[in-house]
Amino acid sequence: MINAPTIILVGPMGAGKTTIGRLLSQQLDREFFDSDRVIEENAGADIPWIFEKEGEEGFRRRETQTLEAMLSEEQLPIVLATGGGIVMMEENREMLKQQPLVVYLFASVAQQLQRTSKSNNRPLLKQGDPKETLTRLFAIRDPLYREVASVIVETDSRHPKTVANKVMDAI
Ligand code: S3P
Repeated sequence: MINAPTIILVGPMGAGKTTIGRLLSQQLDREFFDSDRVIEENAGADIPWIFEKEGEEGFRRRETQTLEAMLSEEQLPIVLATGGGIVMMEENREMLKQQPLVVYLFASVAQQLQRTSKSNNRPLLKQGDPKETLTRLFAIRDPLYREVASVIVETDSRHPKTVANKVMDAI
């Protein structure tokens, strides 16, 4: 078994963090968590509901609490997929920078758009034109993903299994 630390996946919506995270957790035989799902479980409500009732601000508060809890718990190394906006809060970036293995799954805006086109549970893509939103968010967030990541893996032209193998190579 590979002796690797907790692996944290960051990147935009549609980068494939959940898909790649599941593959990595199988390959490494360790538990997989998706911060969005943990937030939903703790809130007893889904993300669109949280955005509607508490605004993006409320969601970000929950996201920070969740990240903090997941990283501070005494637990076996895990694979953690994060929401695309996790890097928006400075305190989250500071927590991520202290982690030994943060992987930025890079996807172009065109790919992000294609991979999110059927999703119905991303409130930020319901406001205005999704392409404009993803382009605007990418301009802000790409430097922040790079700031916290120790490894960058390009996902556009790759099958998920190949992306997972690239991450494994980096461990
Ligand atoms: C968000 C991304 C989503 C989710 C929420 C906000 C963002 O996660 O956390 O809708 O700000 O980019 P995914 O990146 O898993 O879609």
